[in-house]
Amino acid sequence: MKDANFLKANNARSIWHPMTAPADSMAQPPVILTGASGVRIKDIDGHEVVDAVGGLWNVNLGYSCQPVKDAIAAQLDALPYYSTFRGTSNDKVIELAEELRTFFEPDGLTRAFFTSGGSDSVETALKLARQYHKIRGEAGRIKFLSLKKGYHGTHFGGASVNGNANFRLAYEPLLPGCHHIPAPYTYRNPFNESDPAKLAGLCLAALEDEIAFQGAGTIAAFIMEPILGAGGVIPPHPSFMPGVEAICRKNGILLIADEVITAFGRTGAWTGSRLWGVKPDFSCTAKAITNAYFPFGAVMIAEGVAQVFEGDTSGKAAIGHGYTYSGHPVGAAAALACLAETKRLKVNENAAARGAELFAGIKSLMEQYELIGDVRGGHGLMVAMELVADRTTKKPADKAVTARVQETAYREGAMVRVSGPNIILSPPLVVTSADVQTILSALDAGLAAA
Ligand SMILES: Cc1ncc(COP(=O)(O)O)c(C=O)c1O
Repeated sequence: MKDANFLKANNARSIWHPMTAPADSMAQPPVILTGASGVRIKDIDGHEVVDAVGGLWNVNLGYSCQPVKDAIAAQLDALPYYSTFRGTSNDKVIELAEELRTFFEPDGLTRAFFTSGGSDSVETALKLARQYHKIRGEAGRIKFLSLKKGYHGTHFGGASVNGNANFRLAYEPLLPGCHHIPAPYTYRNPFNESDPAKLAGLCLAALEDEIAFQGAGTIAAFIMEPILGAGGVIPPHPSFMPGVEAICRKNGILLIADEVITAFGRTGAWTGSRLWGVKPDFSCTAKAITNAYFPFGAVMIAEGVAQVFEGDTSGKAAIGHGYTYSGHPVGAAAALACLAETKRLKVNENAAARGAELFAGIKSLMEQYELIGDVRGGHGLMVAMELVADRTTKKPADKAVTARVQETAYREGAMVRVSGPNIILSPPLVVTSADVQTILSALDAGLAAA
C-alpha cells in the first residue's frame, strides 16, 4: 500500500467525487478512510468515530458482518460470475428470489428483477411500469408523477422524477412527461401549513388536481419514498401514502415505492410500505440488501403486475432491459447472508428503539440551540435536523456553519452527513444506546462550536 504522504498528496487529484465540485474536493480534501469495524470507521490518521451515516444509509449490519463476508468469499470460489440474461441462471439468485418472495409477501410483492443498485432499480421500475400499460393496451400511459424533495437516484429517468433542482439543472433537458407535486414537508411548503394531517390532505388534493390536468389515461406511475430520505428525512403523515395509493388505484396509475433506503428495517418496520399499510405495484430496493458489501439491488413486483406480464401472448412482455450484473451470484450470495442476519438480529426492532432515543436526543438539542430550526424523524434510524440562521425567517444556515458542525462532530467522535442545511443521521441498525449517546454528544459539541 502507498504511504500516508502519497495518499494525502494525491487525494482528489485524479478522482472526481460524486455530488461535489472537483475544485471543492481539492480545496477541502475528503477524509481518507482506511478501516472500519462494528459501527466505527477509522481514517488515515488513526482517528476512529461512530459512523452516524451508516456508509450511505446502507451498512445496516455494521462493518464486521462475518456471515456476509464469508458468503462472498465462498461464492467467489464457487462461481464468481455468470449472466442471468435469457438462457442462464445461477443457484444463488434462484434461492434469493424465493427468500425475497417470502420477505415481501406481506407487501404483496412476489417477483424480483435484479439490478446493480438503487438508480438501476428506479430505472427498471419506471420502464416496467410503461411496459405494463403497453401490454394491457394502454400505450398512452407514459407519464410519471412524483414528489418535490424526493430523491430517486441519478440516471436520466430517476433524475427526471427527482424533486431537487441540484440533481436536475446541470443535466436538462430531462425526460418529458414527468410532473411533480408538493411534498408533505411541514417545515416549508407552498400552503404554509404546519399541521401534518392537513398538509397531507392538501398534497393529496394537489395530486388529484395534477392527474385531472394531465389526464389520468396519460400517466403510467407515481413514484415516492415512503419516508423521503436524501431530501432531508421527511416522514409524511400516516394518511399520506395510503391516500396516494387510493388515488392511484382510482385512476389506473401504478404506485412505485422507492424503498432503496427504507426496505429491510430502517424505519422500524421491515419495509416503508408496510409501515404505512400500503401495497405498491413495484418496490425499488438496493443498499441494505447486501449491507453495502456488494453493489446490488432488486425491484420487487406485485402479483397483479406479474400476472399481466406472465399471461401475455402478444409478445409485448419481452423485457428489453437488464444489466450485465443483474442477478450477480456474488451479490445474490451476499444478499442471502444479509437477509438471514437482518432477520436473525431483528434489526428493525433495534432501529425503532435506538431511533426513538436518537430522535428524543436531537429534539432536546433543539431546545438548547437556536441554530436548529426543525427536527424530523420518529420512524426508526432516519433522523435529520435542519439548521437555520434565524428561526423566525427560517433562512437556511450558511454552508460554513453546517461544515463547522460536521467537522467538530467528527473530531468529537461521530461522522454525520451534511445535505444542504440538513444534518442527516442514518447509522447502522445495530448501534447501541452508548453509540447513540456518542453521536449526540459529538453533535452537541458541533453545535456549540458553530
Ligand atoms: C430513495 C433512493 N432511491 C434511489 C437511490 C439511488 O441509489 P444508488 O445511489 O444506489 O444508485 C437512492 C440513493 O441514496 C435513494 O436514497
